[in-house]
Amino acid sequence: MHLARLVGKLEQVELLDPAVDAVAGVVNQVLPPGDVKDVLHGKFLGHALHPLLVALPIGMNVGALLLDLTGGERARPAAQRLVGAAVLLVAPTAASGLADWSELGSERRPKRVGLVHAASNVVATGFFAASWLARRRGRHGTGAALALAGSAGLSVGGYLGGHLAYSEAVAVNRNADRTPIPEDWEDVAAADDLDGGMLRVAAAGQPVLIARHGGALFAMGAVCSHLGGALDEGEIVDDDDDGGGCVVCPLHGSHFRLRDAAVARGPATAPVLAFDVRQVADRIQVRART
Ligand code: FES
Repeated sequence: MHLARLVGKLEQVELLDPAVDAVAGVVNQVLPPGDVKDVLHGKFLGHALHPLLVALPIGMNVGALLLDLTGGERARPAAQRLVGAAVLLVAPTAASGLADWSELGSERRPKRVGLVHAASNVVATGFFAASWLARRRGRHGTGAALALAGSAGLSVGGYLGGHLAYSEAVAVNRNADRTPIPEDWEDVAAADDLDGGMLRVAAAGQPVLIARHGGALFAMGAVCSHLGGALDEGEIVDDDDDGGGCVVCPLHGSHFRLRDAAVARGPATAPVLAFDVRQVADRIQVRART
């Protein structure tokens, strides 16, 4: 059976839901929204941290496997160090993945796949930890066999992680394919239309959010970069350090600064599109900020 069809069936397994809810409850308790969780999401990078961390233990374990297969006796200490370092790196890698996973809201399908992805990697890590212990006791053949078994679990986890990123677009900037246009001022609304504080308009086909806050006008892309929430259905709060206010996404609470469309609070990691805005007589005009 095609692998993608197998994953499609996995997405439908409702039996996983109690475990999904239990793990999500623990993660949300241990990692509430805030600075630590934003670091784990990768807000400081401008994109997700998890895929970057994942490469480290995978690379180390593959390196150890190669040394086991081709390095002979002299390579045993290096292989053991690689396996040990990979096991240590699992903690931050798993924490960043769980932080992202816990912010998928009511989306059941990716959460089910994410749970099995995590479980596969936990099993793999168990094999690698046992491999390190066996090597430490001088049983290098056993250690190599355990690492090989761990690699199988890692492959399953890696495939499911790839599915989440590339098929389900989890932790992908939902505005990545939008071009910042128009370059010239475009008339988008009458000033009187903006009576509720926020208004969704279209500029050169782009969804744009117009907001009036503290007497000033602001504009930014109307689509949340996290999972595509409609920012115009959110609210404006005053938690920007510079006092300019933020738009809060109605789905998972990401904050985007009104003044520059940057992320003030995750789970989003990428800014939304930034626009200049002005009022000319009784009309509102926007253009892409360059
Ligand atoms: S869609 Fe998740 S925070 Fe906006």
